[in-house]
Amino acid sequence: MAEYHVPVLLRESVDGLDIKPDGDYLDLTFGGGGHSREILRRLGAGRLMGFDQDEDVLPNIPEDERFVFVNHNFRYLQNFVRYYGWGQVDGILADLGVSSHEFDEAERGFSFRFDAELDMRMNRRSVLKASDVLNDYPEEQLLSIFRNYGEVENAGRLVAALLKARQEKAIVSSDDLYRAILPCVPKMKEKKYLAKVYQALRIEVNGELDALKEMLVQTAKVLKPGGRLVVITYHSLEDRIVKNFFKTGNVEGKEEKDLLYGRVNNAFELVNRKIIVPSEEEIASNPRARSAKLRIARKVEE
Ligand SMILES: C[S@@+](CC[C@H](N)C(=O)[O-])C[C@H]1O[C@@H](n2cnc3c(N)ncnc32)[C@H](O)[C@@H]1O
Repeated sequence: MAEYHVPVLLRESVDGLDIKPDGDYLDLTFGGGGHSREILRRLGAGRLMGFDQDEDVLPNIPEDERFVFVNHNFRYLQNFVRYYGWGQVDGILADLGVSSHEFDEAERGFSFRFDAELDMRMNRRSVLKASDVLNDYPEEQLLSIFRNYGEVENAGRLVAALLKARQEKAIVSSDDLYRAILPCVPKMKEKKYLAKVYQALRIEVNGELDALKEMLVQTAKVLKPGGRLVVITYHSLEDRIVKNFFKTGNVEGKEEKDLLYGRVNNAFELVNRKIIVPSEEEIASNPRARSAKLRIARKVEE
């Protein structure tokens, strides 16, 4: 059986949590459980709460009484920490995006490598699929998605091609989509172009950027003073949000200064000034790690 997911920047990210053996930690993106297992290995009597909205991860859950699993979106993290009666935690890890499992299972519809239904939901209890976006969204909204979430250069032409195709026949499968947009796809950069189109759809279907923003805002409340926030991003949109949040303490990236001393009101300080990226060896053994960027922050003492 193919491996569920190879964890990226494993040592560097778990080092970033600065694990205290008796501390409480959150892994917001459990996936194959690679990061969670490493956190548990370094914990003594401490505890770990793992989140993932995809129920395919259930067989990966470790049998370990220090571990609690939450099969929900991490945008509700504060509620779940409260629900389980935990106080503030010592560290939070988020390894964003989709897992290799989600990407490689044809019927999940995340990849243009397979002809499959255009689904792309991480959480299959939710309603909106990529095919709904393509068939039901109005022109302006499609334009905004492909421009803002995919940074697709010829988004106008792409959307015109989609509107024309869907008048004739609903766009249900990846083959339907490919046929519809073929005239817009640059011949020499086909894979890159399709990757952008799929990224845009996936971000919309899963509300990824809103979930990320909501999660980041809650981390400031859920972490203890001195606690660590460790985030791995895989594309520039999510990385910009994390970078702004770490720098200013808000997701808009607006520097708010306190009136008396002129200091920036930020609950976090950077642990690494330079972002951490995978080594050449890691990228050679796991090419999917190539776009990863690791940022680590510490909640300031009150
Ligand atoms: C890159 S993988 C994490 C891999 C994991 N660190 C490992 O070592 O196997 C991201 C995982 O987070 C989940 N995920 C992404 N966004 C989420 C969200 N907003 N709420 C809950 N889970 C999410 C995905 O379903 C996927 O399984």
